[in-house]
Amino acid sequence: MIAPSILSADFARLADEVSAVNGEPGRRADWLHVDVMDAHFVPNLTLGLPVVESLLKVTDIPMDCHLMIEDPDRWAVGYAEAGAHNVTVHVEAAKDPVAIAKDLRAAGAKAGLSIKPNTPLEPYVEVLKHYDTLLVMSVEPGFGGQKFISDVLSKVKKARNLVDTGHLNLLVEIDGGINPDTIEQAAEAGVDCFVAGSAVYGAEDPAKAIEALRAKAAPAFAKVRQ
Ligand code: DX5
Ligand code: ZN
Repeated sequence: MIAPSILSADFARLADEVSAVNGEPGRRADWLHVDVMDAHFVPNLTLGLPVVESLLKVTDIPMDCHLMIEDPDRWAVGYAEAGAHNVTVHVEAAKDPVAIAKDLRAAGAKAGLSIKPNTPLEPYVEVLKHYDTLLVMSVEPGFGGQKFISDVLSKVKKARNLVDTGHLNLLVEIDGGINPDTIEQAAEAGVDCFVAGSAVYGAEDPAKAIEALRAKAAPAFAKVRQ
């Protein structure tokens, strides 16, 4: 799955930018990744629930809301109630991640948990039993266009192994620095869903960029799942 991040899109033309990735199969976004930043959890400010609500009215691409905010215990469920498909909170910000997952699922969304590059996976394996998605950050959250941190792939491999052995039942998603040069190694490590901001919206033709990413990932992806 490819999830273009609208962080790198033109915010004045969001509806057009979303329809640019809603074309033919193969060139279409599987999820639309929306980065919510509050200038507290991360040193950047983007958009919030009103913009997500407006976007939900103009597209049927499942929305993947990545909340880089403080106090997700209070705010996350609103995104699920609005109709987001997957809502991801950061474990570093969550006070009660199990309660958040239950609230998100009760509101009809998939629940996602994200870990920053320096946050280990092991302490959260039990918590992750309540989640549908694990978002492994491969850059420090806050900005698009940063360099891929390949060290995080050891966490992806561990998560893939926990899923393949039946200890966890979730999608493994990666976010940050994914482009045609890095997607293959991420796919080989066992990622299911690839977020790409600058690689899609920095390209002349975003739909073509999705196709190129998919072409690079597909052989490695198939190899892991043999
Ligand atoms: C960064 C965001 C990412 C960002 C990725 O904190 O979570 O979703 O858009 O951008 P690229 O793909 O350019 O690294
Ligand atoms: Zn993101």
